Amino acid sequence: MREVEAVLIRVLSSQGGRLPVVWSSTPLFRTPRRTQGRPTGGTRSRSATSAVGSAADRIGGPRCHAVPVHLYHSSIDGYHSSSHTTAYEAAFAGGHPSLSFPLDGLPPMSHLPRVFVARRIPSVGLDRVVSQTDAWVWEAQMPPPRHELLRRIAGCEGVLTLLTEQVDGEFFDAAGPQLKVVSNFAVGYNNIDVAEAMRRGIQVGHTPGVLTDATADMAVTLMLCAARRIVESVDEVRAGKWKTWEPLGYIGQDLVGKTVGIVGLGRIGTAVARRCRFGWNMNVLYHDVRRNETAEAELDARRVDFDELLSRSDFITVHTDLNESTRGLFDRRAFARMKPTAVFVNTARGPIHVEGDLADALQDGTLFAAGLDVTDPEPIDPSSPLLRLANCVVCPHIASATVASRNGMAEIAADNLLLGLRGEPLRCPVPPPETDS
Ligand code: GLV
Repeated sequence: MREVEAVLIRVLSSQGGRLPVVWSSTPLFRTPRRTQGRPTGGTRSRSATSAVGSAADRIGGPRCHAVPVHLYHSSIDGYHSSSHTTAYEAAFAGGHPSLSFPLDGLPPMSHLPRVFVARRIPSVGLDRVVSQTDAWVWEAQMPPPRHELLRRIAGCEGVLTLLTEQVDGEFFDAAGPQLKVVSNFAVGYNNIDVAEAMRRGIQVGHTPGVLTDATADMAVTLMLCAARRIVESVDEVRAGKWKTWEPLGYIGQDLVGKTVGIVGLGRIGTAVARRCRFGWNMNVLYHDVRRNETAEAELDARRVDFDELLSRSDFITVHTDLNESTRGLFDRRAFARMKPTAVFVNTARGPIHVEGDLADALQDGTLFAAGLDVTDPEPIDPSSPLLRLANCVVCPHIASATVASRNGMAEIAADNLLLGLRGEPLRCPVPPPETDS
């Protein structure tokens, strides 16, 4: 990497420090490609990225472009770098390229809006962002540390964030007054101070709709897994503890004809209700600040108050957003009102249930089982009592983790970012706080 770093320092220094770096580890500059007249390329590995970053830092902090080539090999959408061979590649095929070659004749980067992308997202969205902006993509698996995030967004006109990035007054101050848009790669946006963004005239986008079915499927998966003791059974098989077919072994709960209580009957809650109604002929109760007349007509759903939902439901599934009235909603008092045969499912946000109270309820028989895709904190503390309970299924916040959902999210997030940079209305703006659901 030292040799590579030295080469990069030479290149960056000779170009005044502000230029795109088209990069791949072996051979040097192997797979650059042209997108809309500008080449983009990237780092093949994290060590290559550090070489780029470190070379940049050593000549006084110029910004360069390091976009992961391995993303193009990603199987998530079949995007493959071999379909992007270009004249550049041919020029470099002979071996070590002339270092000035890929940089000659490129448009200056300074006219492109500067953006920070807080993680690699599917290429269907990322490619458009890197080809149309002066982008820095945070490549690491882990989120940027706060100080690094604040440093990277300084001077940016747009930032693509994930739920792990707290977007607040400090964030906006660090970015500067030129910030036009924050595009959140998520349907939820409890990580963003939307009121403060609006006060400052910054547009905020999110990615609704494309993950509705995947999230509803996850909720139903957790209902089934928890009710039918799937994880506990699989664990026993894997541990060699399956002894025989037992008439009284691994007995769980049915779904057919039971009552599902849905807290938050918006897009995702309604998709869960449809699955329950049409899949298992379940009765649907819901609790929401708003009436959902469409779901009432289509699914015979009945709106009830919270306590009635708790006491009458066999399955309770959470699909509300996290706000001050839903934080800690499922606590000791709420669990005590549920049936001892009830299954609790949360695919919305971890802080909506109180972890210690849930663990107690599962342990002392107040509740039959629980299925969680969200925890507080995330990741869950490895010493959490929930992880030692056979009747609790915990997944690592994967509800939207399907090819179609994540690609759809990437497309919307890219659209939101690019539209916001042009000062146009976003494809999916978050609703203003007062009309927020
Ligand atoms: C995931 O939790 C999301 O809000 O998209």
